[in-house]
Amino acid sequence: MTEPTRRAVLRTGWKVGGALLFGAAGYTAYEALSPLSTGAAGGKITVGAPSNFSNGSATYFTDGRFYVVNAGDHFFALSQKCPHLGCKIPFCDSSGRFECACHGSVFDLAGEYVKGPSPRGMDRYFMKLDGGNLVVDTGVSVSGPDRGTKTYFTPAKGPGCVGKA
Ligand code: FES
Repeated sequence: MTEPTRRAVLRTGWKVGGALLFGAAGYTAYEALSPLSTGAAGGKITVGAPSNFSNGSATYFTDGRFYVVNAGDHFFALSQKCPHLGCKIPFCDSSGRFECACHGSVFDLAGEYVKGPSPRGMDRYFMKLDGGNLVVDTGVSVSGPDRGTKTYFTPAKGPGCVGKA
């Protein structure tokens, strides 16, 4: 049996490395864009005092997969699941809006529909004040507000993260 040449070893190494890189990129794209198979866990999650959430902020909670937002001292717990086809909706710091990268739906800070194919605003979880802390019940969700609802509308504060928001 002959020993492999240096060139053959390098060629094989590049192929293996390329395959690993391609696989990692594919998995990353799948994780970022795939719809969620289920909603949140269904439990109650204490997220802290209202004063922990500054006006205009959106804070993500991994446990329940929701955001707590403070839209002009109106607090909401918003599901991260896009009402269109279920992709995870990231919050864009520069625009102060939620922008779904899958098909371009945009929602204001309160989760109200701004544009895109979503049939409504972002779904919300029931949240109450208990002993000075906000408690989110991920077992009780409410469909997002209808398109055209502008009750807590907040204009974009800057450029969007996905195209022009
Ligand atoms: S899944 Fe969000 S816009 Fe389609």
